[in-house]
Amino acid sequence: MLDISLDKKLLDFEKIFGLDIAKDSVGYTILRDNTDTKNRVPLDKPNPIAGPVSDFKVTGNSIQVLFRNGSAVLSITQEDTVHLFWTTGNGPVVANNDYRFDDVKFDTGKLVVLSKDIRIEISDRLDYFYRNELLRSEFLPDLGSPLILRARIRDDSIINGTGERSFPLNLRNRKLSLWNHDADGSYGEGADPLYINIPILLDVRNDSCYSIFFNNSSKAVFDLCSNEKDIVRTEFMGGILDYTITFGTLKDISRRMSDILGKALLPPKWALGYHQSRYSYNSQEEVEEVLDKFHEMGLPLSAIYLDIDYMDGYKVFTLNKEKFPDLKSLSEKMGRNGVKLVAILDPGVKWDTNFSVYKEGINGSYFIKDPEGNVIRGPVWPGNAAFPDFSDSKTREWWAGKYTFFKENGITGVWHDMNEPAIFVFWGDNSLPLMAVQKEGYHYLVHNKYGLQMSVAGYAGLSRLSEERPFILSRSGWAGIQKYAFVWTGDTASSWKVLKQTVPTILNLGLSGIPFSGVDIGGFSGNPSEELFLRWFELGSVLPLFRNHSAKGTNRREPWVFSKMGQEVIRKYLKLRYMMIPYFLSVSYESHTLGYPFIRPINMEFPDLYSDETFMIGGSLLAAPILRKGLKKIRITLPEGKWYYFWDDTICEGYVDVNVELGDLPLFVREGSIIPLDREGREFHVYPGNLERFVFYDDDGRQKPTFIKMEFRMKETNGIFTVEWAYEGNLNDGQTELKFVIHRDGTEKIITSRLQDKTLTYTQ
Ligand code: GLC
Repeated sequence: MLDISLDKKLLDFEKIFGLDIAKDSVGYTILRDNTDTKNRVPLDKPNPIAGPVSDFKVTGNSIQVLFRNGSAVLSITQEDTVHLFWTTGNGPVVANNDYRFDDVKFDTGKLVVLSKDIRIEISDRLDYFYRNELLRSEFLPDLGSPLILRARIRDDSIINGTGERSFPLNLRNRKLSLWNHDADGSYGEGADPLYINIPILLDVRNDSCYSIFFNNSSKAVFDLCSNEKDIVRTEFMGGILDYTITFGTLKDISRRMSDILGKALLPPKWALGYHQSRYSYNSQEEVEEVLDKFHEMGLPLSAIYLDIDYMDGYKVFTLNKEKFPDLKSLSEKMGRNGVKLVAILDPGVKWDTNFSVYKEGINGSYFIKDPEGNVIRGPVWPGNAAFPDFSDSKTREWWAGKYTFFKENGITGVWHDMNEPAIFVFWGDNSLPLMAVQKEGYHYLVHNKYGLQMSVAGYAGLSRLSEERPFILSRSGWAGIQKYAFVWTGDTASSWKVLKQTVPTILNLGLSGIPFSGVDIGGFSGNPSEELFLRWFELGSVLPLFRNHSAKGTNRREPWVFSKMGQEVIRKYLKLRYMMIPYFLSVSYESHTLGYPFIRPINMEFPDLYSDETFMIGGSLLAAPILRKGLKKIRITLPEGKWYYFWDDTICEGYVDVNVELGDLPLFVREGSIIPLDREGREFHVYPGNLERFVFYDDDGRQKPTFIKMEFRMKETNGIFTVEWAYEGNLNDGQTELKFVIHRDGTEKIITSRLQDKTLTYTQ
């Protein structure tokens, strides 16, 4: 019998999804509970490792440290990086790396490992010193189930990382759950957990920082000093205790993490343009109207999205031919206007014995099963569905092959949604049973990797179909998702609070290794006022992903539905975005090669400053978006040095009061910058000063690209400055002329040079 509140929920569910899905949801929720009751997660075996160190052995480049009932294999994998692997046994494990520690010795009852700037003292705890400062004291772990590691950290550091958080940037004093979770259509600030959880913690204080990455995807709880003062407690439901710690500045540790996790993708240029989406453009005609209207109004556009209604009954890899009779010719028309088609894809395959994809999945044994071997069925958009086991390479291979469907229909980019995976439930967790069985292990151990592994498959599929670099947008992810996909922050509510929250959320994703992310402009659910939408649009124009998207039933948000003033603001920021693409692609190249986030917290460039609202875009541009209602004037604190107000070249220092009417997004350029812009063709904007290194990068978007890379340096002595560059590749338009625009005393002076000249001097 359903109780009254469930009865009401059933009615609500029925209204949204229809009676069949409502009933299937009740059925699934009961099945999920039964599966986990019959097959409990084994969580009853504490096994604390006891110290002190009893012995140690050096094998190759690793040191095996033996305790009474377990051991740690420690290796210094780079001069600033330590890897640890704990086991209850004592079999030697040899790390696969060439780097060697400098020394290891017993010293007054402690085992001391030395390597350049790192010293680790091991007794009944592990003390990590970096440049002689104690950064972290780890207690010996509990290697039972759950796995527990506690560590004392400095009392004045900031904690970042862990993936997608709807909290301020500093996560200290919070207790977080790491379990990829669908926010069910709408969430606000403080909702936790969200769709992307990553077991990476950054402990940041000025220039002395470290990050720790746990190679464990199981369900976890991170208590970041909320319960015990200065103690970070990490608890994993299962798996192994294997982690890497890397020390240095915030930039150093971001770079090193990208060595460990793999380099982020390099976006095709169009992905950095403007994306227009809505749940849903309901017919081919409607998409065409949107396209034509952008064209008529002379507004630039890079992509239009198809949400779930393009499918036949929400069945994956199908098309509703009535509503979309000829997508291929639509996409050709779009292509002539430089616009790509992106379509959504959810993992759930409709449970329908007549549906070919379902039949293939059953025949190939590609779906996730319960411990008794039955394929699990749970309702999502198409009704009951089965869920591919993306942890299995044979399933990934099958799924990758299906992306020919997109190519056949002229679809360039694929938008992976509901890939936590999300399931419609009546109570409790809205995903698969904890004890569902996947190739790589029980679901509670690998759930957090589901979206990542779906993207691995999708990326492989798209890579084979075209010479162009793939574009995937994924809602869920885990460590490494940045190699395959952009992400966005899911179903945000439309409110000023959420607009403000967007900045730390995206910054924190960047610090967790994911440079390319964005937010639904205006918020997904609800209707923003024009003011809120326009402020959101201003912010969106400088985020890595610039996408306007909203829920079913919300008011339209295409540029032309706004007032004349609103349309002008939109036009201004579309223009800004496209002008910035050469800089944004260069910043993306930096993310791709060096692992720095695309937008980065101010303290990454200026370690003494900290902000939840102001941020850097690459190393040269500072943005102070307007995140509050009715604001007309703000005071912005600038980092040291001179800053050029982007819009009129006013030179600012210290702090500055800026008028911020609707349509004003404060942007500042750091002195000693070169900003490549597309204004009247390609221009290198020079803001005089000293510049150590800036890499301009451009290419044709292919996997094996034709590219140009110019590495700039700039020096200024007594009013004479020298810009020097080395280059590799060709400007793809074949031109060798370079246009420099020198910003000086509020004026722009144009100097032309040639690529081969490699140097330019200018005297005031
Ligand atoms: C999910 C997505 C949202 C999408 C909707 C319908 O809620 O997060 O972006 O529009 O599903 O597919």
